[in-house]
Amino acid sequence: MIKPGVLQRRLVGEVITRIERKGLKIQALKLMTMTRKLCERQYAEHKGKAFYDDLVNYISSAPCITMVVAGEEAIAMMRKLAGATNAAEAEPGTIRGDFAAVTQKNLVHASDSPASAAREIGLFFGPEDIQDWSDGNETWVV
Ligand code: CMP
Repeated sequence: MIKPGVLQRRLVGEVITRIERKGLKIQALKLMTMTRKLCERQYAEHKGKAFYDDLVNYISSAPCITMVVAGEEAIAMMRKLAGATNAAEAEPGTIRGDFAAVTQKNLVHASDSPASAAREIGLFFGPEDIQDWSDGNETWVV
């Protein structure tokens, strides 16, 4: 998920380019402003934490881009591309390391396990929204 502010900062192309350059495959993509209810479901595991209310307010404040990204070890790769959650700890060269100055506004969210990916994808997409496409490049990039 590309978080609010990335669209306004005109950094959507920068983020998506990094995913594409890695050779991962975008199978679904949606521009949407999430309702509070949807944010609460997305971030249910953080309910009760000090930053939870601010997080839900922020995520529901402006458009996000949700995506399904596929590839061998796609979850591990997306998390490496994103960098550490904490903006101060994210390494230069990662999306957060290069563009995030505030932990809450750390540009992207990436699912941390196959189970979370399945749950989170289900919040935004139906099976009919997910395109399995081939360009013959699998031999070289995935
Ligand atoms: P994300 O990967 O989307 O998962 C939960 C989000 O909560 C996280 O990225 C941050 O945006 C936010 N978050 C996590 N820890 C903190 C924190 N200590 N302070 C503020 N926001 C946080």
